[in-house]
Amino acid sequence: MTEILEAIGQKQLTQQERFEKTRTLVFPESSEACRQLAREVAELIESRQKSKENVVLGLATGSTPVPFYRELVRLHKKGLSFKNVITFNLDEYYGLTRDHPESYYRFMHDQLFDHIDIPAENIHIPDGTIPLDEVYDYCHGYEREIVEAGGLDLQILGIGRTGHIGFNEPGSAINSPTRMITLDRVTRADAAADFLGIANVPRSAITMGVGTIMKARRIVLMAWGGNKASIVREAVEGDVTDQISASFLQEHENAIFLIDAAASGRLTRVQHPWLVGSVNWTDAMIKRSVIWLAETVRSPILKLTDEDYNEHGVGELLATTNKKAYHVNIDVFNEVQHTITGWPGGKKGTENERRPERACPVQKNVLVLCPEPSDAIVGLAGTIDRLVEQEHNVTMVVQTSGNLRVRDVSARNFASVINEMAELAHGTGWENQKSYAESILNELDEKGEFGVDSALVRRLKGLILRGEARDAGEVCGLEESSQIRFLDLPFYETGRYRRFRLENEDIEVMKTILNDVKPHSIFATGHVGDPSSMQAMCFQAFKEAFEECSDEKWREDCFVWLYRGKDSPVSTHEIDMAVPMSPDQLEQKREAIRKFQSITGDEFESPTDNQLIAGNYDKLGMAEYEAIEAFERLL
Ligand code: F6R
Repeated sequence: MTEILEAIGQKQLTQQERFEKTRTLVFPESSEACRQLAREVAELIESRQKSKENVVLGLATGSTPVPFYRELVRLHKKGLSFKNVITFNLDEYYGLTRDHPESYYRFMHDQLFDHIDIPAENIHIPDGTIPLDEVYDYCHGYEREIVEAGGLDLQILGIGRTGHIGFNEPGSAINSPTRMITLDRVTRADAAADFLGIANVPRSAITMGVGTIMKARRIVLMAWGGNKASIVREAVEGDVTDQISASFLQEHENAIFLIDAAASGRLTRVQHPWLVGSVNWTDAMIKRSVIWLAETVRSPILKLTDEDYNEHGVGELLATTNKKAYHVNIDVFNEVQHTITGWPGGKKGTENERRPERACPVQKNVLVLCPEPSDAIVGLAGTIDRLVEQEHNVTMVVQTSGNLRVRDVSARNFASVINEMAELAHGTGWENQKSYAESILNELDEKGEFGVDSALVRRLKGLILRGEARDAGEVCGLEESSQIRFLDLPFYETGRYRRFRLENEDIEVMKTILNDVKPHSIFATGHVGDPSSMQAMCFQAFKEAFEECSDEKWREDCFVWLYRGKDSPVSTHEIDMAVPMSPDQLEQKREAIRKFQSITGDEFESPTDNQLIAGNYDKLGMAEYEAIEAFERLL
């Protein structure tokens, strides 16, 4: 096993890595990477303890380091002391007090500091409440404190979708110091769920500069999940540019990227392995390379020539398989063609091996898993509609209440309506409802714009969303109330984004629903998300429950289809089933999505991903559809 801290500073070692300008270690799972990094950091701390020295760590917040901090806490419980550790956090939102639930001060204490024995005076987190005219001196002082502590031994980083490290947004110079910055729109959008709406996300922050980070003796940047894959590639393989501050790490002697398989998906060695060395030409690899070739030379598959293969680094495929382009083209064309089906539950009477779904049983029990109430509608509204129309028993199971996404204004409106109805009824028989509505309104007032919702408010918000989910489901043909079920998984109910923890009871709830529905096919999502994301946790809960049901009869004949969320679009070669949509069906999907009026987020513009997928199929020479919903087959 490669030691992470030792690998730091080594340059690209293999032919495969030759496009990568910063050393990059890929672990199958983030949990494994975090376990190993935590063990190595623990060894560093202990070795310094022996020589009575301190360790100075630069720390990050956000979802990424959460599993790493959990590991450190676990090691502390087994005896690791943090008495000789001094920490400096990268950043803090400007304007947030320490006790704000989304302050990085609160985050670090919740995730790490409250659970270990680090002396309070060793903890440094930028103060977001410094008056504006003192910020400059304050930042200068923060830098000085790092120097006085002996400089950063190890800086832990995440990476934002803008490529930022700390909050060094595009335009930050390589020698920028600790300072106040304006947050990028993308960064604010990414934090919108945490703050219950983008309008609540602070516009500025205090951050260590790129220069401050670059002075660290060693740097580990972690990234998990498919939504980080593109920016990781740009930072690791692209040019050094102030538009992606993580690319500056290419200039650091001792920096390393630690990523999981999903985040490695766009690295050349993973995405186009044939460009970096010999590959094993499996059917999947052939499909992938031919689609890539067609996209690169902008040609339909059937028009690719031997020259195209040779001139774009795929000549080895023809040589190894001893085939002409013509034959390879036909094979791959057919394979892609066979992913297209208007029968996502299988077509009666067609025992065609090459169809994505089985014909039998003719009427399937289909379970659509939906982490938050809108996910499945955004992901597969058209497919749900077809499944219902083709007379399958479709059950949409909404895993969490999604109440954290509901805006205050919706809860306020609802409570006000009850109040007014009570007044119209002159109080008679409406006393309970009136006092309920008043409690809601009072609690909303008391918590203010950024406060945490009470259990009562969260419950109401969940119920509002249920209503919207039912309306949306109805647009897609789910008309019976029994066709939509709400699990309100317990892990979500008391938590906040990035801080959820799955418990056994969540798995048990999932097991009960699986055994109840006895599905022939399951549609699920969350498989490529950041592991701390709500979708990934819902997927994990499903996966564990599914595994625990392995002896059940229904498991013998169950397909699992995966759909994607908006952040990590599927690549054409990954698609195993493509369900086309007509313009009318697309409009119907938009209508369903519009039913979610109470929630925050920017994903509800239009289902353009579906149109992109259709465009990609069209360019490969497939039939031209208005839109396509796409699925990968897991099992
Ligand atoms: C946090 C920080 C940021 C995050 C980045 C990724 O202290 O400085 O650079 O590391 O925004 O955030 P997550 O991990 O939430 O995806």
